[in-house]
Amino acid sequence: MDSISLMGSSPSSTKASFLPNGVKNGPREGSGKPTVGIIGSGDFSKCLTIRLLRNGFHVVVGSRQPKRAAEFFPHVVDVTHHEDAVGKASIIFLAIRREHYPSLWDLKHLLAGKVLVDVSNNRRVNQYPESNAEYLASLFPESLVVKGFNVISAWAMQSGPKDASRQVYICSNSVEARQQVIELARQLSFIPVDMGALSSAKEIENMPLRLFTAWKGPVLTAVALSIFFFAYSFVRDIIHPYVKSKQSYFYKIPLEMVNRTLPMVAITLLALVYLAGQLAASHQLFYGTKYRRFPHWLEGWLQSRKQLGLLSFFFGCVHVLYSLCLPMRRSERYLLLNMAYQQVHANVENSWNEEEVWRVEMYISFGIMSLGLLSLLAVTSIPSVNSALNWREFSFIQSTLGYIALLIATFHALLFGWKRAFEEEAYRFYMPPGFVVALVLPVMVILGKALLLLPCVGSKLKRIRRGWEASQYHTDPERSAAHVSPERVTIM
Ligand SMILES: Cc1cc2nc3c(=O)[nH]c(=O)nc-3n(C[C@H](O)[C@H](O)[C@H](O)COP(=O)(O)OP(=O)(O)OC[C@H]3O[C@@H](n4cnc5c(N)ncnc54)[C@H](O)[C@@H]3O)c2cc1C
Ligand SMILES: NC(=O)c1ccc[n+]([C@@H]2O[C@H](COP(=O)([O-])OP(=O)(O)OC[C@H]3O[C@@H](n4cnc5c(N)ncnc54)[C@H](OP(=O)(O)O)[C@@H]3O)[C@@H](O)[C@H]2O)c1
Ligand code: HEM
Repeated sequence: MDSISLMGSSPSSTKASFLPNGVKNGPREGSGKPTVGIIGSGDFSKCLTIRLLRNGFHVVVGSRQPKRAAEFFPHVVDVTHHEDAVGKASIIFLAIRREHYPSLWDLKHLLAGKVLVDVSNNRRVNQYPESNAEYLASLFPESLVVKGFNVISAWAMQSGPKDASRQVYICSNSVEARQQVIELARQLSFIPVDMGALSSAKEIENMPLRLFTAWKGPVLTAVALSIFFFAYSFVRDIIHPYVKSKQSYFYKIPLEMVNRTLPMVAITLLALVYLAGQLAASHQLFYGTKYRRFPHWLEGWLQSRKQLGLLSFFFGCVHVLYSLCLPMRRSERYLLLNMAYQQVHANVENSWNEEEVWRVEMYISFGIMSLGLLSLLAVTSIPSVNSALNWREFSFIQSTLGYIALLIATFHALLFGWKRAFEEEAYRFYMPPGFVVALVLPVMVILGKALLLLPCVGSKLKRIRRGWEASQYHTDPERSAAHVSPERVTIM
């Protein structure tokens, strides 16, 4: 076998390999860890090799051209022909593309009884009728095919768990092979997730191909709200003065109009986050049970609350940046100068307006507080922070502090609008000021929460959430197994 492994030939002083990132490592002697085989010498193979070496494994790489491939691997790695590599390891990673699996056909007898780890991904969701792993299992029925590690990019594989996603999803029809690969994943500092039989492979293969699926609905909602609020403000604040008195306020479009749209979207999205929970509560109160499934649209809405909340936070942050830039504008300076000039003409020495001063101080302060609380919610939605909190702490921050943030943001907008909601000239084209429209939903949600906090309603909801069911529900003929949660089925 013309293996070009330098293992045997290198002097002991050079046995320690020089891995990327300055890590000096090699298979630890007497570590007792098995030799892991990798077929293919591409990016994934190189990065997996480094990860395995760092964790004390010995690695043998099978390549069509071992001499050329060896240049890209640390010296301690045995880079050899496919047959040789397959013969030396009992766990073999296939770091080649699905299209190349048939090229291993001649090794079928050598691969029998070995664990084959399929790490492949496709270019499109459901690209092939069967998953790559099931296809591999059909080619090599005597091997133990395991799907896994495909959700980890080559870069993440090399850079380590601190910098990368840690979960790897693993499935196989062989329980023993699955356990071996799960243990291997654990030793490489990943968090293995057992996905059961090989029929889950398609789902695992589709995972890295998803493009922000959970964000689609919330982003579309945010875009639709942005268009609505922008158009509303444009008609009211720019078209109206132009039509009525030929005053051109088009200069307001880039900053003022945007800064009017952003906060209105932010507060509406925040209200939508908490409206979902209230609709869920109403559903539970109406049916007198928590064991009845929510309609699909509500379930989807409940599951998008994190995304809706984070988008609200994003819009709120950009609103703050815009607000801080408002006084920097040239238009603002001209307006200020003109006002000063008019005051001089009118002989006004002191333009101090106590009410205005308090209004602005208060609304800015409420804005800052609301943003501060939203930042806390955003920080706790980071998985590492989230996992450091227990359920009660997380729920306190997300639910209680979230409602307080909504309440404070509502006060912020109310103080900003002040008496304008009641002034006739504020209703242009019969359209109320933007803040009035933007506050309809938040005010409804706050009133809804107040209703749910009433002792008669709140205590019933609490009992329902603890598992109590209204007696009338027991005789509901509509109730069927499909409506019962898995938790309930287990209890019964
Ligand atoms: C900046 C920011 C970050 C956020 N980050 C997160 C986050 O990381 N994770 C997160 O979950 N939310 C996040 N949210 C959304 C929100 O804060 C939480 O969902 C919060 O717990 C909602 O509280 P609630 O009192 O309205 O509802 P809850 O009391 O949580 O729920 C109300 C009802 O809905 C039911 N229910 C809850 N969830 C589900 C579900 N998934 N399917 C079916 N029924 C359900 C409950 O049984 C309960 O009856 C974030 C919001 C913001 C603004
Ligand atoms: N790169 C990633 O971030 C990543 C992440 C997750 C999963 N994956 C999966 O890992 C597998 C490898 O990806 P990669 O990025 O490493 O690909 P790559 O860089 O293109 O390497 C693939 C390797 O396959 C071998 N090969 C090429 N043509 C072949 C043929 N006709 N027959 C047999 N072997 C052939 C080559 O090795 P030799 O020349 O040495 O034979 C080549 O180095 C793919 O299935 C991919 O979906 C990759
Ligand atoms: C540091 C925090 C904040 C500051 C400094 C701030 C500042 C401002 C300013 C200057 C305005 C007036 C804009 C204008 O002249 O058109 C305003 C309006 C408004 N803000 Fe904020 N804000 C903050 C946070 C927030 C947050 C977190 C929200 C919502 C989640 C929010 C919602 C609103 C709303 C709804 C309006 C009324 C918009 C309108 O009708 O024109 N603000 N804010």
